[in-house]
Amino acid sequence: MTSPIRRPLVAGNWKMHTDPRQSAELALAICSGLPPHPNADVMLLPPYTSLAAVAANLSGRPDVWLGAQNCHWETSGAFTGEVSAEMLAGVCGWVLVGHSERRRLFGETDRQVAAKLRAVLRAGMRPLLAVGESLDERKQGRATQVIQGQTHAALQGLDREALSRCVVAYEPVWAIGTGESATPDDAAQGARDVRQAVAALAPGVERSLRVLYGGSVSASTAASLFAPPDVDGGLIGGASLKAKEFLAIVAAAG
Ligand code: PGA
Repeated sequence: MTSPIRRPLVAGNWKMHTDPRQSAELALAICSGLPPHPNADVMLLPPYTSLAAVAANLSGRPDVWLGAQNCHWETSGAFTGEVSAEMLAGVCGWVLVGHSERRRLFGETDRQVAAKLRAVLRAGMRPLLAVGESLDERKQGRATQVIQGQTHAALQGLDREALSRCVVAYEPVWAIGTGESATPDDAAQGARDVRQAVAALAPGVERSLRVLYGGSVSASTAASLFAPPDVDGGLIGGASLKAKEFLAIVAAAG
């Protein structure tokens, strides 16, 4: 379990699921099921079109944070279909960047991820950076190299204050949406790899940085996956769409 200086965090990535009405209902079910003082921070990441509906249902819960799943790195301009960090800043406090589905399905590069992360910080929000190796990279023995390379590429050049505003999620690509979760040892190793890359950029910051594990976390696996001292909670996909299961995962993190 996480160190006393790092409060656990459980983030629900709803991906391209739930319309505004369904999102509002899910947010309400999660908020009403949370204890008044949960032992973990909670973040909800609905689709853009549901941000306002979820925000309206979080007004009584300043401890439940709202985030977007993506943003563009430019402030504004002729970028049809894109949403800038500045546009999100009045709506939510966090943005997920570098999710492997963005990298893999939409061709996002390390450079673009770094630009998005800087845009989030520039707009006064906080980034949740996702990194992780594919199955092939793992089989080739390159997991650590990939995790550290992605972490370095996204965070290099940031000062300590900016780094302290970031959270990183280690998400092995082969464990996302597959039902095949990593072992607690895999999760711990990935989190250590992230911390080492951050330590190389700014020694000491790695001790206060929150590092989450993501990939097929369920109510039955959460406690063991979050048990290693280097793992500070989780980024949850499928299981975050069911209030009861998500609440059980939050309880397992605290
Ligand atoms: P999953 O997704 O929990 O459905 O595997 C995790 C994620 O993509 O963040």
